[in-house]
Amino acid sequence: MSVPVPETMTAVEIRTPGGPEALVATTRPVPRPAEGEVLIRVAAAGINRPDVLQRMGLYPMPPGVTDIPGLEVAGTVAAVGPGVTGIAVGDAVCALLAGGGYAEWAVAPAPQVLPIPRGVSPVEAAGLPETVFTVWTNVFERGALTAGERFLVHGGTSGIGTTAIQLAAARGATVYATAGSDEKARACEALGAARGINYRTEDYVAVVKAETGGKGMDVVLDMVGGDYFARNLDCLAVEGRHVSIASLRGGKVELAIMAMMAKRLTITGSTLRPRSVAQKGAIAAAVRAEVWPLVEAGKVRTLVHATFPLAEAAKAHALMETSAHVGKIVLTVG
Ligand SMILES: NC(=O)c1ccc[n+]([C@@H]2O[C@H](COP(=O)([O-])OP(=O)(O)OC[C@H]3O[C@@H](n4cnc5c(N)ncnc54)[C@H](OP(=O)(O)O)[C@@H]3O)[C@@H](O)[C@H]2O)c1
Repeated sequence: MSVPVPETMTAVEIRTPGGPEALVATTRPVPRPAEGEVLIRVAAAGINRPDVLQRMGLYPMPPGVTDIPGLEVAGTVAAVGPGVTGIAVGDAVCALLAGGGYAEWAVAPAPQVLPIPRGVSPVEAAGLPETVFTVWTNVFERGALTAGERFLVHGGTSGIGTTAIQLAAARGATVYATAGSDEKARACEALGAARGINYRTEDYVAVVKAETGGKGMDVVLDMVGGDYFARNLDCLAVEGRHVSIASLRGGKVELAIMAMMAKRLTITGSTLRPRSVAQKGAIAAAVRAEVWPLVEAGKVRTLVHATFPLAEAAKAHALMETSAHVGKIVLTVG
């Protein structure tokens, strides 16, 4: 089977670093799949906070990666490059990208391509890869969260947060989540958190200590940094693990070494985008084995807060920057 592929496509580029208006629709050549790559006719593309940072000029793409933003898509395979096995033209897939998702066509390394889970729409599927890969590798690989343990995630209603709550709860952890309003805290509980905490009106350290009889958390997933770092360590139980994935309130912190030693804490973190195709492929294999069955069972789903047509990517970014959303914002293509 072959699919006609045009020479050019509509994509959204960052004209010059700046506000949402920097995102402008443009015409670009359709990328061709190189060895080990797959060409996807994009149906939908997920928006992630790192795209906002890239748009502002604060998160440059890794060397050799297209300047078109977009870290995840869902759609249909239109062509496969040499050496690709197990993926065929016509397959419904979603993929983690290093860039290039805000476009009608995108290429992805084959190891980062996964079948769309059964019962999931392309729009929902487009919102899975970036958050699921990030949560899997940070919470379960680095943080080693297991059933029966206690888990705290900040930004509970973010794309990452909504995925982390559902996945940790589905795998048997007791989940606590912070968010910036009572309404959002209740949304965290609806997703499976034992307790959503409005950090604007409650001291989350006091809440999790009270809720756990002073025992504290086994794993904290943090995207806030700054003053949260010391408070998170205070929340952690003996042998607790602190996993950083961002530092929205500041990336330079002080560490109380004796306190870390006394509780035998592990302090770790990671970024996803610059990792090798082999590393992302290993995460994809784990996600397919461990997470996709939970998605197909309806225990983990993409909470789609809003969709926008590709050409309105600027509006989608403006919404994300309000942080009013609960879950994912997705671009629809075609
Ligand atoms: N390391 C990695 O591999 C990796 C991969 C993907 C994403 N990330 C990071 O993970 C974070 C979430 O990404 P996303 O795409 O899910 O973002 P998102 O949906 O836009 O959510 C960001 C959340 O952060 C909260 N927030 C914003 N500023 C804050 C502040 N100063 N203090 C406390 N909370 C704040 C907001 O919730 P409230 O309004 O409720 O506070 C918002 O829900 C981002 O920082 C992103 O850069 C890291």
